[in-house]
Amino acid sequence: MSAPAEPFHGSKILILDFGSQYTQVIARRVRECQVYSQIVRYDTPAAELAGMGARGIILSGGPASVYAPNAPQPDPAIFDLGLPVLGICYGLQLMAHRLGGKVEAGERREYGPGTLQVEAADCALFQGLTEKLDIWNSHGDKLRQLPEGFRAVARSENSPYAVIEHPAKRLFGMQFHPEVAHTPRGREILQNFVYKVCGCATDWTMGSFIEQTCAEIRHTVGAEKVILGLSGGVDSSVAAMLLHQAIGEQLTCIFVNNGLLRENEAEAVQKLFGDNFHIKLKYVDASERFLEKLAGVTDPEQKRKIIGNEFVRVFERAAVELKADGHGGGHRFLAQGTLYPDVIESVSISGNPAALIKSHHNVGGLPDDMEFELLEPLRQLFKDEVRQVGSQLGLPKEVVQRQPFPGPGLAVRILGEVTEERLRILREADTIVVNEMKSSDWYYRVWQSFAVLLPVRSVGVMGDERTYENTVALRIVESQDGMTADWVRLPYELLARISGRICNEVKGVNRVCYDISSKPPSTIEWE
Ligand code: XMP
Repeated sequence: MSAPAEPFHGSKILILDFGSQYTQVIARRVRECQVYSQIVRYDTPAAELAGMGARGIILSGGPASVYAPNAPQPDPAIFDLGLPVLGICYGLQLMAHRLGGKVEAGERREYGPGTLQVEAADCALFQGLTEKLDIWNSHGDKLRQLPEGFRAVARSENSPYAVIEHPAKRLFGMQFHPEVAHTPRGREILQNFVYKVCGCATDWTMGSFIEQTCAEIRHTVGAEKVILGLSGGVDSSVAAMLLHQAIGEQLTCIFVNNGLLRENEAEAVQKLFGDNFHIKLKYVDASERFLEKLAGVTDPEQKRKIIGNEFVRVFERAAVELKADGHGGGHRFLAQGTLYPDVIESVSISGNPAALIKSHHNVGGLPDDMEFELLEPLRQLFKDEVRQVGSQLGLPKEVVQRQPFPGPGLAVRILGEVTEERLRILREADTIVVNEMKSSDWYYRVWQSFAVLLPVRSVGVMGDERTYENTVALRIVESQDGMTADWVRLPYELLARISGRICNEVKGVNRVCYDISSKPPSTIEWE
């Protein structure tokens, strides 16, 4: 199950990626139609595409101009496979250009909102929709002359060919982006394509995913045993539940306590997975070892390096013990919670065919000679799908909807040296933040909400006493994917309550600040 994702046995749409920032959004929209979608390189040979059992193909947008010397080009035979093809933006221009139409640089870039006027109401893509539709454009080139056999289906303010169709061959092109939220009825257009044009069935559900994947895991693993590094985060937790459902006792999870966890975290993971779900759990308390290595270290990069190295060492030792386990044979497979966005081959913007393949190591740098076979049961899934699978397998909301927590833990939230005492201060402050966010119903509405301990002491007053204590910063941000973020405009009353409780209840803190920086230019973690 490691290399390419196992094919899904159901309706499937292939998305050829020409480097659009929206390619993954298209894939997710199709999956929201309960139809499996898979992103493939733009230059995948037509014969290979034909062998993948898809019912239709979508050509993504892309930043290039079809006339640019390095413009990414698909195999021209994709238009003769007999499969429906929908070209979006650059995809439309490619299709038109390839099939004999004329594409020219537009006088001005059409960017932002626009209106679509549907003229051929019998076109399958617009069934059930109104004649006038709000759309979102983002393109420079535009189509001047239709290729043979095509007709104009809809026009926009500055293009008579905003949507085109070759009815006999079931080829469609649209200048705008149906996949983005700014095209309010884009979802229905895509639904019409996958259901009405391609004839897809709604068989991609998390229930069918669980069933198929469990069968595959059983088939791959046979009577062997599997190790999984469980961090308590969403991905590894869901992977654990899925593997446990598939192979039960053949799975052993390793949980490493690096001493940098939040209050009660180690206990909660053991209780949930061990006591509640009866998953075999090897608990390794390495906290002392981590803290010894971190003593005196203040440089953030060095902290990260130490923690990363230590983790690999501790995990490796635990894994080697399990691998060599004398009782009934050792462990042969190592499972990881790798997700789909980590394995998609991205197209570089210049159209350079040397594609950029993202590699992802959840465990990070385990030596090759450990000779585990890799198992990645979530590699077909987007994050929201992982959450759905987790819920279906019975994981509680606190796990499935939990906020991201960095691997190096509280160490990236303690600026300066990490000591037992500073960890205690941060843990207590963090617990207050989490509890207040939860009880005010804000916790699940934000991307992350946490406390940071600064290496700054300042003067305060408590009773009649002058104090000289630590400062805590609150970092509460909203974000889609962690790449960009903005600070949350939290109600003053809530901020006041959190600040008041931290100053009153956490010994060693006399000042709380609210971080009002966005990312960029700041980052989410302070480090
Ligand atoms: P920054 O601080 O770079 O963080 O804006 C972006 C997102 O990534 C998370 N983060 C990490 N997650 N291991 C992780 O698993 C890490 O080392 C790590 N560092 C940052 C951070 O919490 C935020 O959600």
